[in-house]
Amino acid sequence: MTIRAVVAGVGSALPKRRVDNAELAAQIATTDEWIVERTGIRTRYIAGEGETTATLAAEAAQAALDHAGIAAAQVDLIILATATPDQTFPASATKVQTILGIPDCIAFDVAAVCSGFLYALSVADAMIRSGGANTALVIGAETFSRILDWEDRTTCVLFGDGAGAIVLRAEQDSDRGILATKLHADGRYNDLLYVDGGPSTTGTVGKLRMKGREVFRHAVTNLAAVLGEVLDAAGLTAADVDWVVPHQANARILDATAKKLGLSPDKIIVTVDRHANTSAASVPLAFDVAVKDGRIKRGDLVVLEAMGGGFTWGAAALRY
Ligand code: UT7
Repeated sequence: MTIRAVVAGVGSALPKRRVDNAELAAQIATTDEWIVERTGIRTRYIAGEGETTATLAAEAAQAALDHAGIAAAQVDLIILATATPDQTFPASATKVQTILGIPDCIAFDVAAVCSGFLYALSVADAMIRSGGANTALVIGAETFSRILDWEDRTTCVLFGDGAGAIVLRAEQDSDRGILATKLHADGRYNDLLYVDGGPSTTGTVGKLRMKGREVFRHAVTNLAAVLGEVLDAAGLTAADVDWVVPHQANARILDATAKKLGLSPDKIIVTVDRHANTSAASVPLAFDVAVKDGRIKRGDLVVLEAMGGGFTWGAAALRY
């Protein structure tokens, strides 16, 4: 008898305000042409008053529960991947718990920046398979707009806010579910993508700083490698893959990674054009879009991947 963590439902949430490239070009020295050509980004969503990481996370989580047809009371584990929590502590996952009205469960945040959702998914999978949880909400949610330097054109045009969630359920002897996960970190690259503040250093929240060109170079190499590793671990090849749901940082990274693996661009889910880079939220947001528009169907072999600050990177293979 084997227990697998099966995806029972998916959901997402976006702030009300959508900001296009032209609106940014009216404020800083950039152009719609530069942003589209270098990144593929056309719009992003920016949180307004009353919209926080926890409120977006809870909205995405409720949508995922509704999609799964599962009541919030059945959830016994919430893992929220975020680098932009509502407060340094308590964990924003406990705020999600309160908003959803769950009286008792395990709830904590995971901080692995853009790879956070892959880290959270891997932890939830391990807890479910070991019998430590039965019904898990795995959420990626961010409000990066609040840690951007809006005068730095090299970073502020790249990011957006949002949340995505999945419900994982323990099932016995299912041919669906998470088949393999692979995670990596290499702290020698801390200074290529970081926030210049923190509770234990400056006592301030800080702003995002990135050496974009260097991150780009590492991203393509690391993502192609970890995708290969996770397929090997699941006993699969690129030819078995129905869909890749990648971290949405830059359309050119998605193209280059697909090319390196010999994957057709038609199999890559792309939402960076409308959401921009939403860090830990980007993979579950894109997953939700592709399930709801009918591309990803039950039984499809789906591979998720992400890379971000740390560096951290990871991938997961699952049968939806
Ligand atoms: O989510 C975590 C992972 N993050 C990533 O994967 C991000 C990876 N990096 C990237 O996506 C790309 O490197 C960027 C989109 C950040 C930058 O694209 P690039 O093709 O690497 O451009 P660059 O940084 O080499 O900059 C080229 C030029 C520079 O001007 P000079 O020095 O050539 O005169 C920049 O100053 O573009 C200029 N530039 C801009 N121009 C107009 C930078 N930002 C802007 C802007 N508008 N917003």
